[in-house]
Amino acid sequence: MRGLRMSVLPVTVVAHLTAIATTALVLVWLLKLRGGLAWNAQPPASFKVFNVHPLVMVIGFVLVSGEGIMAYKIIGGRRRVRKASHLALHLIALFAGVFGVVAVFRYRHQIEAQHMITLHSWLGIITVASFALQFVLGAVFYMFRGAAQTSAKASYLPWHIFVGSIIFLMAVGTALTGIVQQFAILGLGNDQEGHIVNSIGLLLVLFAATVGLTVVLPYEK
Ligand code: HEM
Ligand code: HEM
Repeated sequence: MRGLRMSVLPVTVVAHLTAIATTALVLVWLLKLRGGLAWNAQPPASFKVFNVHPLVMVIGFVLVSGEGIMAYKIIGGRRRVRKASHLALHLIALFAGVFGVVAVFRYRHQIEAQHMITLHSWLGIITVASFALQFVLGAVFYMFRGAAQTSAKASYLPWHIFVGSIIFLMAVGTALTGIVQQFAILGLGNDQEGHIVNSIGLLLVLFAATVGLTVVLPYEK
C-alpha cells in the first residue's frame, strides 16, 4: 500500500494557524464577553473563577499538548532538541491540565454544586489521569539513559504513539463536551457569542485532524 504522499510542513502550518485562531477566540470569549478571570473572586463573581477552567484547558492543555506531539515533526535539527521540546511542552500541558481541573473544582465548591456528575467531568478526569500516566511512562522509557533496554524501548514506542494520540483525541473530545455543556448552561443561541463558542469547537476539531495527520506522515530531514 502506498503511504500518504504529502509533505508534513503545510500540515503543521495549518495546525499552528488553527491554534492561534483558537487562542484568539477563547480570549475574546472569556475576557471580553464573559467578564474575565479571577482566582479569589467570591459569589456572585465566582464565574470569573470558572472562566479560568476553559481558558487553561483549551490553551494550556489541548493546544500545548498538540504542539508537543508535533514537536517531533516540526523542529529541524537534532533529535535531542526535538525530544526536549516534546518533553517540555507535555510537562507544561500536564501542569495546565491539573491546574484547570483544580479551578473548576474550586468554582463548584464555592457555588456548593455537586462534583463529578456529567460525562464531561468523568471523561475529563480519565483524560488528565491517563495523560499523567503516559507522561511518567514516556519519561521512564526515554528520559533516563539505561533505564530501559533498547528492545523494551523499541517495543514500547508504537504503544506510546498510539496511546498518546488517543489521549490527545480524548482531550479534544472532553473540551468539545465542555463547550456544548457551557453553551446550554449559559442559554446561548444563534447570536455572536453562540457563533464564537461553536467556532472554538470547530477549530479544535481541525486542530485534532492536523495534529493527527502529522503523526501518520513520515519524518522530514
Ligand atoms: C480537556 C479539557 C477539559 C477537561 C479535562 C475538563 C475537566 C473537567 C472536570 C474534571 C470537571 C468536573 C469538576 C467537578 O465535578 O467539580 C469539569 C467541569 C466543567 N467543565 Fe470542563 N474540562 C475541560 C474543558 C472544558 C471546556 C473547554 C469547557 C467549556 C466551557 C468546560 C466546561 C465545564 C463545565 C461547564 C463544567 C461544570 C459542569 C460539570 O461538572 O460538568 N470544560 N471539567
Ligand atoms: C503525556 C504526554 C505524552 C504524549 C501525549 C505523547 C505522545 C507522543 C506521540 C503522539 C508521539 C508520536 C509523534 C510522531 O511520531 O509524530 C510521541 C513520540 C515520542 N515520545 Fe511522546 N508523548 C508524551 C510524553 C513523552 C515523554 C515524557 C517522553 C520522554 C522523553 C516521550 C518520548 C517520546 C519519544 C522518544 C518519541 C519517539 C519519536 C520517534 O522516534 O518516533 N514522550 N509521543
